[in-house]
Amino acid sequence: MASRYPDLAGQGVLITGGGSGIGAALVAAFCAEGARVAFLDIAETESRALVAQLAETAAHRPHFIKADLRDIAALRGAIDEAISVLGGIRVLVNNAARDDRQELDAIEPDGWDESQAVNLRHQFFAAQAAVPAMRRGGGGAIVNFSSIAYLLNMGELPAYATAKAGIIGLTKSLAGKLGPDNIRVNAILPGMVLTERQKRLWVDEADAAAGIERQCLKRSLVAEDMVGPCLFLASDASAAITAQTLIADGGML
Ligand SMILES: NC(=O)c1ccc[n+]([C@@H]2O[C@H](COP(=O)([O-])OP(=O)(O)OC[C@H]3O[C@@H](n4cnc5c(N)ncnc54)[C@H](O)[C@@H]3O)[C@@H](O)[C@H]2O)c1
Repeated sequence: MASRYPDLAGQGVLITGGGSGIGAALVAAFCAEGARVAFLDIAETESRALVAQLAETAAHRPHFIKADLRDIAALRGAIDEAISVLGGIRVLVNNAARDDRQELDAIEPDGWDESQAVNLRHQFFAAQAAVPAMRRGGGGAIVNFSSIAYLLNMGELPAYATAKAGIIGLTKSLAGKLGPDNIRVNAILPGMVLTERQKRLWVDEADAAAGIERQCLKRSLVAEDMVGPCLFLASDASAAITAQTLIADGGML
C-alpha cells in the first residue's frame, strides 16, 4: 500500500456492497489500517469468505451484515446494527451499485425505479441513518461512489447514468448540510475498473484494450486502485476537502 492513514486505526467504518469487487478491496484496506469495519451486502457467500480471509490478519475482524439495500427498513436496521457493533461510526462508504444495461425501448417505470433504488436512493438513506452517530462522535467522512459513466454518453445505461449523476448532487447537498457538524462528504468517480463482475458481464479483452487506449495510463485499473482515493477522503489527510468529486480513471476523461 502506497500510504498509511494512522488516524483511521480504531475508527468505525461502514462500507456498503463490501462483499466483492471494489467494496471488498476497501474492506481489506480499512482493516489493514486497523479500523473497525462493518460491511453490508446481499451476497452472503462472497461476504462470509471475505470475513474468513481477513480474520487471519485484521486487528479487528470485519463484521458482515446481510441486507438488501433496496429495502430501506432493512438498510436502517443494518446500519443500527453496525453502529452498535462498531461502537460508533466515523466513515461511511456508499459503494454498492448494479450497473445493469437497459434497452431504451424496453424500460418500464418499475425498472427505472429499481435502478434508482439499487444505485442512488440507498446512498441518501444510509447517510441519514449514519449521521446521528457521526455527530455524537464529533464528525465524520462520507464517501459516495459515483462513476465516470454518466460523463461518457453511454446509451445503454440511462437509469444508471442518471443515478450516478444524481450522486454528485446528493454529495454536494449533504456536504452543505453537514459541514457545520464536521462531517465531510465527497464522491469518487471510478473509470474502467476490471472487477470480476465487469470481466464476467461487460468487458472482454477487446473492450479492455479499447478502454486502455483511451486512458493516459496504459494499464488496466483494478479494485485496489480505488483504495488510495477512498482512504484519503476518509482520513484526516483530507480534513479541508468536502463537496468534491475525485476522478480515478487512469486519465480516460
Ligand atoms: N468497476 C467499475 O468499472 C466501476 C466504474 C465506475 C463506477 N463504479 C462504481 O464503483 C462501485 C463498486 O463497483 P464494483 O465494480 O465493485 O461493483 P460490484 O458489482 O463488483 O460490487 C458491488 C457490490 O454491491 C453488492 N450489491 C449489489 N446490489 C446490492 C443490494 N441490493 N443490496 C446489498 N448489496 C448489493 C454486490 O453484491 C457487490 O458485492 C459502484 O458504486 C460502481 O457503480 C465501478
